[in-house]
Amino acid sequence: MDADDKIAVGLEGVYVAKSSICKVDGINGKLYYRGYAIEDIAKNSSFEEVCYLLLNGKLPKLAEFEEFKKALYAERDLPEEIVGIISELVGKASPMDILRTAFSALSGFDEKLNDNTEQANMEKSLKIISRISSISAAIGRLESKAQYVKPDKSLSHSQNFLYMLNGKKPEQEKADLLDLMMMLHAEHSSNASTFSTLVTGSTLADIYAAVTSGISTLKGPLHGGADEAALKMMDAIGSPENTERYIDEALAGKQRIMGFGHRVYKTYDPRAKIIRGHLIEIQEHADGKVKNLTGIALAAEKMMVEKLGETKGIWPNVDFFSGPIYAYLGVPGNLFTPLFAASRAPGWCAHMIEYWRNNKLFRPLEYYEGEIDKQYLSIDKR
Ligand code: CMC
Repeated sequence: MDADDKIAVGLEGVYVAKSSICKVDGINGKLYYRGYAIEDIAKNSSFEEVCYLLLNGKLPKLAEFEEFKKALYAERDLPEEIVGIISELVGKASPMDILRTAFSALSGFDEKLNDNTEQANMEKSLKIISRISSISAAIGRLESKAQYVKPDKSLSHSQNFLYMLNGKKPEQEKADLLDLMMMLHAEHSSNASTFSTLVTGSTLADIYAAVTSGISTLKGPLHGGADEAALKMMDAIGSPENTERYIDEALAGKQRIMGFGHRVYKTYDPRAKIIRGHLIEIQEHADGKVKNLTGIALAAEKMMVEKLGETKGIWPNVDFFSGPIYAYLGVPGNLFTPLFAASRAPGWCAHMIEYWRNNKLFRPLEYYEGEIDKQYLSIDKR
């Protein structure tokens, strides 16, 4: 048997764990969080409830939910040292690099850092979910050269993100749309960032170390970074009329169109379908840049689906329509991936806690192709 028979390149088709958190049915374009269809979640739930569901495996009763939200909101404040780290790095590093650094430093402010009991990890997860969102919003705020805005514990999770970003309470319609986007990004089984979270955690490093790996992995344009890359492409296209020529040239030049294609979905990503519905609503009343972006996005989607959908199984994924929606919400392009990280935090934490119940160190093999038993020559004889 040679190397090609043994190696699962990119771990394609390899199962790495049993899980009851999320099912991605890539053939039928279905997604379930703890058994609930994403369409039902999107219509009826909230990001806070999704966090509870992912972490606890069931929907909360009213009193449980009130208690959970209170505990989550109570963890929003950022230590002033963390705000200091963000201020130091703004303008020097990218928002995603600032998030990775500031988030990692948070471990120094958790007295339960090395307590790896499930109870402690649940408590740490609430801190992580709350504070990663505060950090992401603060990065956007300080990037715009405005003063840091402290969190407001009376606001919902999505309201508070927009409040910390813009310094004023958001319109309810916009907070609701952000809430939906956060729900849709909260979890997606063993994607690259969740897998790297588990790899780090499997060494029994702490949950902050594990989530820091997840953040680092999310950055790349083949994963979470695709949302910003897709927006940059839409900016480069410039207008809906230019879309056809741009996409034709890009495909002829063998370029990847960011926001399309998926390792598991070989049909339309159900999250992208939901976001597309909201984009069409926005298009009806948006103007200026947002209207132009929605026009480009919908024209590009139509073309790509016709050219590569049925024929190659390359369909829009969650990252394609996110750009115009975030632009409508006033979130700058370089904050898309930090916002994605803030939304994915409950998924990373839930998976880490679940994996630790039957922890096994990840340690795969490499197929060695180099030489062996070479003669070692001292430096003067080489
Ligand atoms: N545009 C054009 N062609 C594509 C694209 C694309 N977006 N995606 C895949 N292909 C082609 C690719 O060129 C290859 O063609 P050929 O067989 O002729 O060489 C074929 O499809 C298979 O590609 P692959 O890279 O081997 O397949 P994969 O399963 O490893 O790809 C992917 C998955 C997500 C890396 C890829 O589809 C891609 O690069 N997409 C663009 C980046 C993107 O949108 N990422 C977000 C993924 S979903 C949400 C998330 O994780 O954040």
